[in-house]
Amino acid sequence: MNPFPDHLLASLARQHGTPLWVYDAATIRQRIAELRAFDTVRYAQKANSNLSILRLMRAHGVAVDAVSRGEIERALAAGYTADPLPGSTASGLVFTADLMDADTLATVVRHRVPVNAGSIDMLHQLGAASPGHAVWLRINPGFGHGHSNKTNTGGEHSKHGIWHSALGEALDAVRQHGLRLVGLHMHIGSGVDYGHLQQVCQAMVQLVAQAGAARLPDLHAISAGGGLSIPYQPGQPRIDTAHYFSLWDAARREVAALLGRPVTLEIEPGRYLVAESGVLLAEVRATKPAGSNHFTLVDAGFSDLMRPAMYGAHHGMHLIASAGTPPTPERPQRETVVAGPLCESGDVFTQAEGGVVLTRALPEARVGDLLVIHDAGAYGASMSSNYNTRPLAAEVLVDGGTARLIRRRQTVADLLALEAV
Ligand code: LLP
Repeated sequence: MNPFPDHLLASLARQHGTPLWVYDAATIRQRIAELRAFDTVRYAQKANSNLSILRLMRAHGVAVDAVSRGEIERALAAGYTADPLPGSTASGLVFTADLMDADTLATVVRHRVPVNAGSIDMLHQLGAASPGHAVWLRINPGFGHGHSNKTNTGGEHSKHGIWHSALGEALDAVRQHGLRLVGLHMHIGSGVDYGHLQQVCQAMVQLVAQAGAARLPDLHAISAGGGLSIPYQPGQPRIDTAHYFSLWDAARREVAALLGRPVTLEIEPGRYLVAESGVLLAEVRATKPAGSNHFTLVDAGFSDLMRPAMYGAHHGMHLIASAGTPPTPERPQRETVVAGPLCESGDVFTQAEGGVVLTRALPEARVGDLLVIHDAGAYGASMSSNYNTRPLAAEVLVDGGTARLIRRRQTVADLLALEAV
């Protein structure tokens, strides 16, 4: 999806240069509204952690998850604390990880951030430093599912979560340190289908039954994790959020019955809230034949948008002629490989998992055209790197009639300033 008219994108590219990330606030608000049935929507900020996006989430009552000390500091800078947001009982900020370094441990203790622990070692380290601290247990139910093997976060090949059969040991660690176990969490991957969803809901209920109410005196929430997909491919169905909710709501009611008290239901999406709000703009800088192939080379690479190179992910694209209009009909459609500027063969936006190069049918591109890469609001800017000493691109947030620069373009001087000779 692309929420923007071509003339707006062309004018933003002229004003701010390319590559450029552009996000639409209205699309984010719409996605938040679609998840309102859940007691708590907790945004997995790894998808896009720009401070302005976090502030937008917070203004709409969305809590936040952090997975590093840096993400905790971002959340604090955006106004989040461990206290609940107005009208909620859930902590505004939770830290989820499978390990904690010493700085991160000190940060969660200082700011009383509840810790969603993916290992029993984390419980011992936190318990020793901060007895009575609020914790969640992230449980690996023994199976997982993802849009790629790299985004499957359950099963025995995944490093994530406390293995389900170690629950007793985890509960012992909680009791030993006087930690307060407030929630149980499962996130089995990104791009989960309904079949796996049903399986994970059942696993959550079984977990509570296995532990027994007596060992869960402080438990008052369960989290469905994230993983809601979006239609990246044309014709891919949109997820039915009401159905998604109803499956988890049934699990929540079973858990509440086992505990004999109400339990709140959290969901923790990243992609669903932001992916479709964003595009990456790049300029066509060269076109060339290579044997039977044709290449369209643009000024954004996998240092900007890594998803095609990392997962073989598909992103829709279209061209805008340099005049800010769609390419005129006399330009023939052409199958082309769309690639970037990096000195690396895998720097291709049209590829399948495993690096197989694909082509895309686009109107024949000319130097100076803009390429719009769709559905780039999640895991785009947040996964960018400085490979080939390429500065991070600028980010713009469009809200109604205003477009605001929410991150300036990094400069090479910024990069060199970190280094000493
Ligand atoms: N909660 C936890 C504990 C997670 O590990 C993740 C994602 C989420 C929530 C949010 O998942 P989402 O709703 O966005 O699927 N870079 C990959 C995705 C990696 C996700 C890692 N964890 C991609 O571009 O597809």
